[in-house]
Amino acid sequence: MIRRGIVWRLLLLAYFAFTIICEAKLVQVIEICRHGDRSPLNTYPNDPKPYHLWPGGPGQLTAQGMRAHFELGRRLRQRYIDSGFLLENLSVDEVMVLSSDTDRTLMSAYCQMAGFYPYETGPFVTDEDGTVLTPALPFFWQPIPIHSDVRNNDTMIKVGANCPRHEQILEQLRESQDWLAKRNESWLLLQRVANITGLEHCDLDDLGRILDVWICDQSHDIQVPQLDEELFHQVENVTAWVYQRSYESKEVQKLLAGLLLEDIISHILSRVSQKSLLKFIVYSGHDTTIASLLSCWQAFDGFNPPYNSTIILELHLNDSVDVSENLNNYYVHLEYNNATIRLPVCDDPCPLTAFIHYLNEFALNDSQRKKLCVWRETLSYSKWMQWLPSTQLVYFLPLVIIGIVIFISSRYLYNRFIRKLRRTNVEESEGPLLVSNSS
Ligand SMILES: *[C@@H]1O[C@H](CO)[C@@H](O)[C@H](O)[C@H]1NC(C)=O
Ligand SMILES: *[C@@H]1O[C@H](CO)[C@@H](O)[C@H](O)[C@H]1NC(C)=O
Ligand SMILES: *[C@@H]1O[C@H](CO)[C@@H](O)[C@H](O)[C@H]1NC(C)=O
Ligand SMILES: *[C@@H]1O[C@H](CO)[C@@H](O)[C@H](O)[C@H]1NC(C)=O
Ligand SMILES: *[C@@H]1O[C@H](CO)[C@@H](O)[C@H](O)[C@H]1NC(C)=O
Ligand SMILES: *[C@@H]1O[C@H](CO)[C@@H](O)[C@H](O)[C@H]1NC(C)=O
Ligand SMILES: *[C@@H]1O[C@H](CO)[C@@H](O)[C@H](O)[C@H]1NC(C)=O
Ligand SMILES: *[C@@H]1O[C@H](CO)[C@@H](O)[C@H](O)[C@H]1NC(C)=O
Ligand SMILES: *[C@@H]1O[C@H](CO)[C@@H](O)[C@H](O)[C@H]1NC(C)=O
Repeated sequence: MIRRGIVWRLLLLAYFAFTIICEAKLVQVIEICRHGDRSPLNTYPNDPKPYHLWPGGPGQLTAQGMRAHFELGRRLRQRYIDSGFLLENLSVDEVMVLSSDTDRTLMSAYCQMAGFYPYETGPFVTDEDGTVLTPALPFFWQPIPIHSDVRNNDTMIKVGANCPRHEQILEQLRESQDWLAKRNESWLLLQRVANITGLEHCDLDDLGRILDVWICDQSHDIQVPQLDEELFHQVENVTAWVYQRSYESKEVQKLLAGLLLEDIISHILSRVSQKSLLKFIVYSGHDTTIASLLSCWQAFDGFNPPYNSTIILELHLNDSVDVSENLNNYYVHLEYNNATIRLPVCDDPCPLTAFIHYLNEFALNDSQRKKLCVWRETLSYSKWMQWLPSTQLVYFLPLVIIGIVIFISSRYLYNRFIRKLRRTNVEESEGPLLVSNSS
C-alpha cells in the first residue's frame, strides 16, 4: 500500500514537472485599455446634471475611474510581476507605456501604473556613510514615464483623428438604404428619446451620444426622469446596430486601427529578432481604440466597450526551443476582458505567422494612412440616378457603357492586329520563309 502511494506521488510529481517544462514561455505582453469612469462628453436640454456641474468639466476621469485602473494595475502586477515575468522594480528597457494625449487616458495610465509599481518599489538614495537607505521620493514612489504622440494629433491611439475619408464613409452610411430603413423602424423610439431629452430632433447617430450621458448618470446614481430600464436597453440595442454598421467595412477598420496594428506588429517583430527588450507595452486609449481593434478581429458586437476594458495580447515561445528568431516558434494568445478572442484564421493560441499575416491586411504606416484618408471626390451613383430620367432602363446604362467601351476597344485592337499582320507579311516577303514557301 505504502509503495503504491509513493509511486502515485512520483507520477503526480513527474506530471507537474512535465507540464511546467512543456508550458510555453511568455516573452511579451501588449495591453490596450480604455480609460476608467469619466464625466459625460455631451449634454442635452433636460439633462439632470449637465457636464459643467461635474468635477473638472466634460470627459474627465472620476475618482471611481482612477480606482478601477489602480485595481487593474494591481491585478496585472500579480499576473506578470509576481509570476516572475517582469522585474519587481521598473526597468524602462522592459516596460513602455503610451497614451493618447487626453487627460482621462493619461490619468488612467498613471493610476494603472501606480497599481503596477506601487509604493515601496521605487528608487532609494544611500546616505553619506553609504549604509542607511532612504527613499528617493516619499514612500519609495516610482515615477513612470507615459509617452504621448502630440505632434501627430494622436492618430495612432485616438483612432479616427485627421481622416476626412472616414467622415465621408460615415456620411455615405447615413444615406444608405438600410440606415433609412432602421430610422423608420426606430421612429417611435427616436421620438420618445427626443421627448425625454428635450431635443427638437433626434436621429440614429444622436442616440450614442445620449446613451453615453445616461451611462455616466447611471454609474453615479443620477436619476433621469422618464427613463426606464427597457427604454435604456432599446436605445442600447439600436446604438449597437449603428456602431456595428459604422465599423463593419474593412476600409474603416484599416483607417482606424491600421497605425496601431502596424506599431503592435513592429514591437512583436523587434522582440522576436531580439532588437528590443520590451516585454510589457501599454496603450492607454478610448472605446474607439478597443472597438476598432475588435472589429478587425471580427469580435466587435457593436456594444460600447465598457470603462477600463482591456485587451491583452501575449506572445509565447514554444518552450521546446530556448531562444529563437524563427517566427514559426511563436504563437499569440488574445484576451478581451478575460474572454479569449479567436481570430477568423486560427485557433487559440494563434501561430504568430498566421497572426501577422492576418493583421498585415489592416496595418498601415503614416504615409499609407495619409493617402487613404483623403476625401474621395467621386461622382456618386445615386446622384446620377436622381439626375437621369428615373426609368428602369437607367439601370442598364452602366452595362451599355461597358458594352460600347468593349466594342470600340476590340475594334481598335482588331485593326492594330490586322495592320501588324500586314506589316510582318511585308517584312517576311523579303525573308527566307518566302523562299522556302515558294520552293
Ligand atoms: C524593488 O522593489 C522591492 C519591493 O517589491 C523593494 O523591496 C526593493 O527595495 C526594490 N529595489 C530597488 C533596487 O529599488
Ligand atoms: C493636426 O490637426 C490639425 C487640425 O486638424 C491639422 O491642421 C494638422 O495638420 C495636423 N497635424 C498633423 C501632423 O497631421
Ligand atoms: C420611411 O417612411 C417614410 C414615411 O413614413 C417613407 O416615405 C419612406 O419611404 C420610408 N423609407 C424607408 C427607407 O423605408
Ligand atoms: C412628451 O411626453 C409627455 C408625457 O408622456 C407628453 O405629455 C407630451 O405630450 C410629450 N411631448 C411630445 C412632444 O411628444
Ligand atoms: C435587443 O436586441 C436583441 C437582439 O436583437 C433582442 O433579443 C432583445 O430583445 C433586444 N432588447 C430590447 C430591450 O429591445
Ligand atoms: C471597470 O472597473 C469597475 C470598477 O472596478 C468594474 O466594476 C468593472 O467591471 C470594470 N470593467 C471592466 C470591463 O473590467
Ligand atoms: C513546439 O515545438 C515542438 C518541436 O519543434 C513541436 O513538436 C510542437 O508542435 C511545438 N508546439 C507548438 C504549440 O507549436
Ligand atoms: C477578470 O478577472 C479578474 C480576476 O479573476 C476579475 O477581478 C475581473 O473583474 C475580471 N474582469 C472582467 C471584465 O470580467
Ligand atoms: C510605408 O509603406 C509603404 C508600402 O509598404 C512603403 O513603400 C513606404 O516606404 C512606407 N513609408 C514609411 C514612411 O515607412
